[in-house]
Amino acid sequence: FIDPSFSATLIGWQKQHGRHTLPWQNTRDAYRIWLSEIMLQQTQVAAVLGYYARFLERFPTVHVLAAAPVEDVMAQWSGLGYYTRARNLHKCAQRIVAEYGGVFPSDPVLLADLPGIGRSTAAAIAAFSSGTRAAIMDGNVKRVFARVFGIDTYPGERRTEEAMWRRAEALLPAEGIESYTQGLMDMGATLCTRSSPDCARCPMQPRCVAYATGRTKELPVRKPK
Ligand code: ADE
Repeated sequence: FIDPSFSATLIGWQKQHGRHTLPWQNTRDAYRIWLSEIMLQQTQVAAVLGYYARFLERFPTVHVLAAAPVEDVMAQWSGLGYYTRARNLHKCAQRIVAEYGGVFPSDPVLLADLPGIGRSTAAAIAAFSSGTRAAIMDGNVKRVFARVFGIDTYPGERRTEEAMWRRAEALLPAEGIESYTQGLMDMGATLCTRSSPDCARCPMQPRCVAYATGRTKELPVRKPK
């Protein structure tokens, strides 16, 4: 049984209370969206902002990035950390140019075959750049799902993660995938935070299992030893 009001609630909240002015929003340019999603994989928004602006100044298109020496890419990335991301970024740019004529595919399955792009990042890029219906599943989404649906097994465990992916697919809205996807990210980052969730402002409060049962602090469960 699928509940269409989950996505409707989230989309309504995102439009009213979500973030709308981040530099990678209000564009369908897949290059800019891809770059933001890679930088945001292991780094918070505040730390990404400056790097993102400088990177785009130095490498304004996927063609410029693909043609640049990898050393220049590493120099621009210096300080952001997780440097495999930068090497994969450069490799990915070269494949986009060589295999796709510089145009990012909109199919998340094709995107997920590229270096540095996993299933969730592929879904985010496809949703934001072309409105493609695809599910994301990162640490924030796992936390939101664990609480709202009262999932009390460890999300790092394979069976739990698979069940969360299935649920994420089933919850996707028929329309408005961009607001829905951004809404999940915004809820996880601004409301349903790990250590101090703001349940009073949460649109999911009336349906949240963790809230109803006083288990917000216990969910998601920590890695079992
Ligand atoms: N984290 C990952 N993707 C993001 C996005 N599009 N906006 C804000 N935070 C994010």
